[in-house]
Amino acid sequence: MIICIGAGPGDIGYLTQRGAELIREADVVAGFDAVVNVVQSIIPATAEVVLMNYRDQVAQLDAVAKAHHQGKRCVVVFMGDIHFSGFQYLERVERACGHPVDTLPGISSAQILASRAKVCFDETTFITFHRRGDLTPFKRHLVHVLEDARNAIVIPCPWDAARSFMPPHIATYLLQQGIDPAHPTEVWENLTRAEAEWHGTLAECVDKTFSDMSIMLIRTLAPMDSQIEAAPGT
Ligand SMILES: C[S@@+](CC[C@H](N)C(=O)[O-])C[C@H]1O[C@@H](n2cnc3c(N)ncnc32)[C@H](O)[C@@H]1O
Repeated sequence: MIICIGAGPGDIGYLTQRGAELIREADVVAGFDAVVNVVQSIIPATAEVVLMNYRDQVAQLDAVAKAHHQGKRCVVVFMGDIHFSGFQYLERVERACGHPVDTLPGISSAQILASRAKVCFDETTFITFHRRGDLTPFKRHLVHVLEDARNAIVIPCPWDAARSFMPPHIATYLLQQGIDPAHPTEVWENLTRAEAEWHGTLAECVDKTFSDMSIMLIRTLAPMDSQIEAAPGT
């Protein structure tokens, strides 16, 4: 009676058919305002919409859990895919319900970035700083990823000034850790909607400003050679 679904990266055209079906059949559709907006056009007129923000999410999820326990079909919509930078919200949903809940993956902003920038998942590591708690292990892991000659797709943290870890902060941190300033770096904003892209080096990223809706790609300086068979005639 309750399922968490990935709503995709922003344009409803990227919502999966199964996700759309679940929303069309829902009695309750819940989520952060910006994410509910993505699917607004297919929410049935009869459905109750429960909007939330960072401050009231626990109370609002309690209301959704109550509806779920009353037997209503509830859908909680997540930005992009649940499985990248969505698990803390999922944990809140499960805590409110008192049990594990089903999930339906969506298309992540990381997948759209990989497609735009033509990077292969196999040679790329995904890291988010958009989470509560200690970011230190994630920062350290990013250093290791680049030292290990892999690409990194990174979701920055846009919150308040004390915690903000946006692309310029990430670049500054990496340079302080001895990472080569020449790493090709890209920042993509508002993927699938009003897209903007910036391309430069890690060093050049230090004094740039980007919106909250940004995702970063730091390319390895040593991309892997092709490992497929030699082309005929070579
Ligand atoms: C809590 S994370 C959720 C990410 C989401 N689960 C996903 O798979 O894309 C939210 C952050 O993801 C990034 N993001 C999400 N959608 C984006 C988009 N369409 N374009 C650029 N960045 C995006 C932004 O940094 C945003 O602040």
